Amino acid sequence: MIGTAPNGFRASITGIGSYVPDRVLTNAELSTMVDTSDEWIIERTGIRERRIAAPEQALSDLCRPAIEQALAQAGVEPASIDLLIVATVTPDMSFPSTGAILADELGMPDAGAYDLSAGCTGFMYALVQAYGMMAAGLSQRALVAGGDVLSKIMDWTDRTTCVLFGDGAGAVVLDRVDRGGFLGFELGADGSGGPQLYMPAGGSRMPATAETVAERKHFAQMNGREVFKFATRVLVSSALAILEKCGRSIDDVDVYIPHQANVRIIDHAVGKLGISTDKVVVNVDRFGNTSSGSIPLALAEADASGRLREGDIVLMTGMGAGLTWGSALMEWSSK
Ligand code: ACO
Repeated sequence: MIGTAPNGFRASITGIGSYVPDRVLTNAELSTMVDTSDEWIIERTGIRERRIAAPEQALSDLCRPAIEQALAQAGVEPASIDLLIVATVTPDMSFPSTGAILADELGMPDAGAYDLSAGCTGFMYALVQAYGMMAAGLSQRALVAGGDVLSKIMDWTDRTTCVLFGDGAGAVVLDRVDRGGFLGFELGADGSGGPQLYMPAGGSRMPATAETVAERKHFAQMNGREVFKFATRVLVSSALAILEKCGRSIDDVDVYIPHQANVRIIDHAVGKLGISTDKVVVNVDRFGNTSSGSIPLALAEADASGRLREGDIVLMTGMGAGLTWGSALMEWSSK
């Protein structure tokens, strides 16, 4: 799917928030848990540390402060939100949705609220969906949260996955604006690559049994090399597709926010796209891959450090389980 903003319709991000748990898990500590080393993790991934949720913290506990911050920054009341989408693969539970739980806790009685699953691309998918509902006139003001508590579905005995991921959440308020805003979106999915990154059990294909638990099938499993090849390819192709659709070039981009999975994947895309490194937002070194939390966390950091100025062209691209990918191009505008 690819498209540009409908004529005359402008919506943008008017508030951003983020939250990460306090607990820091360093590479040195990980090296005491599995057969790995600080050097290996830094060289292959660029990750130095990640945040880990407390045992009692579920996804909604991470999203709530992020959403409250986004609402405060936008200067709007929770009750004015009529659509809440939570992008995640680690909801509080299968049902009810974390969206419905949060809408109740935060006081959004008029909001349609639900969860959306698109792996690490979840935030991009949710952004497009919320924008589309606003453009269609169905929603007046939407809130999109993206977050994951991947530590709860990691196999902490598997060094090929557990070193890569972390916990975190981010949220944005989408509102109509007078200038700028989203210019276009691209989304894609290739389900044939699904088995490259998946959690085999716990769904209707393989319900939970004592055997599935014993066989560690409720943990994420990944073919790292195949996902690496996929990620490097789509990070570039999706960005180029949306730029072309919007009649822009990579030189027009002021801020580039790629999914934070691995510094090598980001470096590859930066090289292929030919974008200067000072335009690239990178925080994977401190948070690891937070899946649906990754892009909004990076966006919140970029905003907090003054890197997002009115009129800037901002490019975001995510990719992940599905396999899925998605890009958004926008002219930064908060009014
Ligand atoms: N510590 C030490 N050694 C390790 C570790 C570890 N944590 N993990 C794997 N190794 C070993 C392997 O066993 C292998 O040993 P062998 O040669 O004796 O068999 C060796 O290191 C090399 O393994 P590779 O898999 O070839 O290492 P590679 O350079 O490909 O890096 C990595 C592995 C980091 C997982 C890489 O493939 C990658 O980043 N893939 C993408 C993963 C990813 O980002 N997934 C999520 C993106 S999509 C989304 O966000 C959902």
